[in-house]
Amino acid sequence: MSDSTATSTKLRVGILGCASISKKNVIAILHEKSGCCITAVASRTEAKVRAFVEDFLTPRLNGVTQTNPLCLGGSSAYDNLIQSDHVDALYIPLPTVFRKEWVMKALQAGKHVLVEKPVAVSVEEYEAMLAVAFHHNKYLQDGTMFVHQPRTASFVQAAKDSSFLGSITRIETAFSFCGDDAFHHDNIRVKRDADPLGCLGDLGWYSIRMALLVLDMTKSVAATVQATDYKLNDEGVPIDATCLVKFDNQVILTFHCGFQSHFRQYVHVVGTKGWVSMDDFVLPRRLPLQYELQSMYLTENDLITEHPCTVQTFPDDHVQEVLMWQTFALLARNIDDLGEGVSWAADASEDCYRARRLAQTSSANQRLVDGLMLSIQKRGMKVQVSLDPIWQEDY
Ligand SMILES: NC(=O)c1ccc[n+]([C@@H]2O[C@H](COP(=O)([O-])OP(=O)(O)OC[C@H]3O[C@@H](n4cnc5c(N)ncnc54)[C@H](OP(=O)(O)O)[C@@H]3O)[C@@H](O)[C@H]2O)c1
Repeated sequence: MSDSTATSTKLRVGILGCASISKKNVIAILHEKSGCCITAVASRTEAKVRAFVEDFLTPRLNGVTQTNPLCLGGSSAYDNLIQSDHVDALYIPLPTVFRKEWVMKALQAGKHVLVEKPVAVSVEEYEAMLAVAFHHNKYLQDGTMFVHQPRTASFVQAAKDSSFLGSITRIETAFSFCGDDAFHHDNIRVKRDADPLGCLGDLGWYSIRMALLVLDMTKSVAATVQATDYKLNDEGVPIDATCLVKFDNQVILTFHCGFQSHFRQYVHVVGTKGWVSMDDFVLPRRLPLQYELQSMYLTENDLITEHPCTVQTFPDDHVQEVLMWQTFALLARNIDDLGEGVSWAADASEDCYRARRLAQTSSANQRLVDGLMLSIQKRGMKVQVSLDPIWQEDY
């Protein structure tokens, strides 16, 4: 197969902004199984995009069948990329405050979009983007990688296995890292005019997402949320938060997220008879991937009867960010193939259903982040969050 033939069968992705996280996604997109290729990169700064393409991207094209990408720099670069005929889809990792503007423009220009998380500064913004995606029949997916990891699906199944776990009572998680002085001074995550949701949007997002996966959120329609402890920086951006979410099915999620504690990323789903856990649920850190199932009992005289811990392992070839792009390419292509006048908002096919399910979960994720942000603004008061599904579907 010639280079151009190989590229033409793939979804052509343009990257809007030379963000740090763009590099991880470049590597994922260049993977032979992603179903995508990179055909353009844009930056507000000419020198930055040249360096990104020449020093980072081009050396990685060795052996990858694709043509050299367009390199767009300067004040019109983002608009030029969005209007370009060389791309079918855009990856948008811009600071959260800019996402609505650029996602909407991209969708209106007929491009599919993979947008970073948190998907917006508010669920109203996200649902406005989604309405445009439906109107133009273009796919919109968020960039949460771990949901595409087969280990996550297996973990969720294990958590729902009542013969082992009993009934779920609690989900406890944390995701944190300790930013240095430069981080707290310069990073977009701590800037009100870039990522005003701070650690809630950047890290808490993942804890909430895990709970939504475990709890089948389409069957629960409300939650009470409370930021029980939090710290804001000088700009009023949350940099540390301890949060409580009580779902209307009585399951409690507690989580910590923050930029001032050492790196942790664990989840425990606790039931009446056992619990399942992972200590690397967001960013897998060892191969083979694994999670643990535990059950032990207190007997008379406080002796502990410990049943053997079962470690469930997974093959090494599941790179979650590659699978994320694979899913994006598949769903975008299938949406393109829907007949005239048929929208992924309503089509009954399995793929459109899957696309809506992902969108539904992104929306619930954002609603809970918004509720916790409101709780912080109300100095830690409890806030009611409606999780009414956008579509009444049984997933
Ligand atoms: N899904 C994941 O696993 C994952 C992991 C890490 C981060 N993220 C998310 O990805 C987003 C980006 O994070 P990052 O650390 O990669 O950010 P970053 O390195 O600061 O990149 C943000 C990019 O946005 C562009 N931009 C446009 N207007 C800007 C402005 N006014 N100020 C600053 N940048 C501006 C810049 O590109 P140009 O200068 O080239 O135009 C910049 O490189 C965050 O929201 C974060 O939560 C996701």
